Amino acid sequence: MQLRIDKYLADMGIGTRSEVKQYIRKKQVQVNGNIPKPEQKVDPDKDCILFQGKEIGYVQQEYFMLYKPGDCVSATTDATHKTVLDYIEEKSRKDLFPVGRLDIDTEGLLLITNDGKLAHELLSPKKHVAKTYYAKVEGKVTKEDVVLFSQGIDIGEKALTKPAQLHIIASNEISEIELTITEGKYHQVKRMFEAVGKKVVYLKRIAMGPLVLDEKLMPGEYRRLTNEELKELLHESHLDTI
Ligand code: URA
Repeated sequence: MQLRIDKYLADMGIGTRSEVKQYIRKKQVQVNGNIPKPEQKVDPDKDCILFQGKEIGYVQQEYFMLYKPGDCVSATTDATHKTVLDYIEEKSRKDLFPVGRLDIDTEGLLLITNDGKLAHELLSPKKHVAKTYYAKVEGKVTKEDVVLFSQGIDIGEKALTKPAQLHIIASNEISEIELTITEGKYHQVKRMFEAVGKKVVYLKRIAMGPLVLDEKLMPGEYRRLTNEELKELLHESHLDTI
């Protein structure tokens, strides 16, 4: 793969394309020891790129697991709230985004990447990627709810929700449950419980496809995916066979 030196450096967050062009004009960039033109093509695998004397490697794709805390939005920018990207400090790419959305008050597993193909596959309604949530719910969750959820719930959409697996951990005034759904309708978990007369008071995503929230992470913490996790995700999305 070859790309223009100005794009290479802009992708790595050195500056905007026009800022990078300025740096090049000011001879602050070298390619294999020579001063390039902005349109010069470079090969990230072979060429040595220096900016202000420091070598800048090229990272094509990045993948992070974030334990999203409450009170931040699943967006790339926001005028009033912290975004999930604000938590990812050691990033090379500036084109990262969250794969799907969690409500502002929902916590838990969020994949952050710049891999658009993977995101598309994981979010495609046709792929039915499983998402598992842990929730605290006001009211006693019952075996009847388990049956109703397995049959699909009317949450005011054209069709019932797809069969969902509800597991009761504790059935009390405040119940604790785990729920696995294969869709991603707006406020889906909250609306499913509302439809059976109950209120979700705490919601945390613990798994998405093969990816499981790392128990060592605290809210607001993140880490890069392991090679194994990435392999499994690409496999689930059939992107390892393309
Ligand atoms: N369902 C919800 O209601 N909220 C979320 O954030 C995710 C699933």
